[in-house]
Amino acid sequence: MLAHTIEEVREKRREWKGLKVGLVPTMGALHEGHLSLIKKAKETCDKVVVSVFVNPIQFGPSEDYDKYPRTLDKDYELCSKEGVDLVFAPSPSEMYGDGGKLSNDTLTYVCPPFFYVNKLCGKTRVGHFDGVCTVVLKLFNIVQPDYGFFGQKDAQQVVIIKKMVKDLNVPIEIVQCPIVREESGLALSSRNKYLSQEGKKDALVLSSILNNIKLCYQKGITDIEALKETAYSFLTDKHEMEYLEILDRNTLEEKSKADNDSIALIACRVEGVRLIDNTYLGER
Ligand code: PAF
Repeated sequence: MLAHTIEEVREKRREWKGLKVGLVPTMGALHEGHLSLIKKAKETCDKVVVSVFVNPIQFGPSEDYDKYPRTLDKDYELCSKEGVDLVFAPSPSEMYGDGGKLSNDTLTYVCPPFFYVNKLCGKTRVGHFDGVCTVVLKLFNIVQPDYGFFGQKDAQQVVIIKKMVKDLNVPIEIVQCPIVREESGLALSSRNKYLSQEGKKDALVLSSILNNIKLCYQKGITDIEALKETAYSFLTDKHEMEYLEILDRNTLEEKSKADNDSIALIACRVEGVRLIDNTYLGER
């Protein structure tokens, strides 16, 4: 079933009283990465809701909100094939009222702590995680799921959402699912659609840098600067590196040395497309 209004979702939720409900929040343009979240939700829950909403308040003024791929018919077909019980695809005005006109002056926002947002993607995408937390909490309140499913590819997002759920006592368990990659190693992303064939090859540098850092760590190098320096030999003028960090995977804190709880995270532009990826160093 496809629902466009909050009331339709609430009605379904009342029907599902006593059942275990899972929510997979997405911005659509579904790929195998999203399908892996849906499969995990199907395994865990009695009923699965997928939200498809390109959330305007998590995009900066110079970001790709207008151009972000919108493929609802195809997304709905994929969800139906996976046995999703409800696809919730609201309009911006259904979510934010006011004819979809958005302003910090008129909307109640959820602002995650500065410590978590003042690094990695949050440094350049100012306000992004306020927008993410606000829409995710709204979706949680609308759907009232028992479980929320998120991909490890957006590692900072998952840490921040877990923190929000803990701090605001939201009675929902967050399930994190592994990154899904193409055979080449490229992490799946809706933004890969913007890349040419050549760009897709150049984008392999992200996973190559991360794999090499992990290999060096597993061979015994724990000095963080030394691990980060191994990236330079991979970069060419096709790559515009935004960040490469090695942090604690649960708290995003800096460490003096890498250890099995470390995560290496990278953001790099290829053909102007901002791509992110990460890997746990302690994982085989
Ligand atoms: O990861 C995403 O696609 C989005 O940030 C999310 C969680 C659906 C919120 O809009």
